[in-house]
Amino acid sequence: MKTIRNPRFFSLGIAALAFFLALPAGLYAGDAALDEKVKSFLARTAGTWYDMNVPEVDGRALYDLVVQNRYQKALEIGTSTGRSGIYIAWGLSKTGGRLITIEIDPSRHRQALANFKEAGLSEFIDARLADAHSLVKELPGPFDFVFCDADKDWYKNYFVDVLPKLTAGGRFAAHNVSGRRGWGTGEFYEYVTSLSSIETTLSRAPGSSLCVSLKKAK
Ligand SMILES: C[S@@+](CC[C@H](N)C(=O)[O-])C[C@H]1O[C@@H](n2cnc3c(N)ncnc32)[C@H](O)[C@@H]1O
Repeated sequence: MKTIRNPRFFSLGIAALAFFLALPAGLYAGDAALDEKVKSFLARTAGTWYDMNVPEVDGRALYDLVVQNRYQKALEIGTSTGRSGIYIAWGLSKTGGRLITIEIDPSRHRQALANFKEAGLSEFIDARLADAHSLVKELPGPFDFVFCDADKDWYKNYFVDVLPKLTAGGRFAAHNVSGRRGWGTGEFYEYVTSLSSIETTLSRAPGSSLCVSLKKAK
């Protein structure tokens, strides 16, 4: 057998190997400058979220769900001023995805737009000023990740409207759900836990009130 001894071939081979090994890590890491911008925005604004925004623990959980499952087509119901949207969109910046987020209150919607811009995430977010009761029905989907955080007594309706547009392996995360006795969300919890195609878990992290429903593959 002939052995290739040319050092040029050898270094080219090493460079190609390094490139392919580094590729997945690079894709996962996303843009380091954007990371710094988002982190500094979140640090600067910690303790200043007064519009029913998620606590940091749930923001981080949303980010992790998106990144770990490589979700790309996300929907948020209830933007408020954008704290949860920032965590979701930050995750999507690493997966090549995009978020549609819906808010009915004009001044919260405006503030969310300003926050998305300041965090450097506007290009990953399509923020709609609309009534989610009708818009959720109208959006064609598909979605692989949904975060529901608007009017609690409508959660079951949102879920019913979204379920046919949720991909297998996709997740519907709902905030302020603490089981059957959850304020306004008990009916939603009863319903999702009655479906054999859905696997639902309640977060046990301190300070968290996240309920995550996975649409199982058929
Ligand atoms: C709990 S806050 C959302 C907090 C946000 N997810 C965050 O963590 O930053 C709920 C928001 O849902 C909005 N909302 C309530 N009913 C709505 C509806 N029918 N359509 C759209 N938004 C609605 C409220 O105006 C409010 O800003």
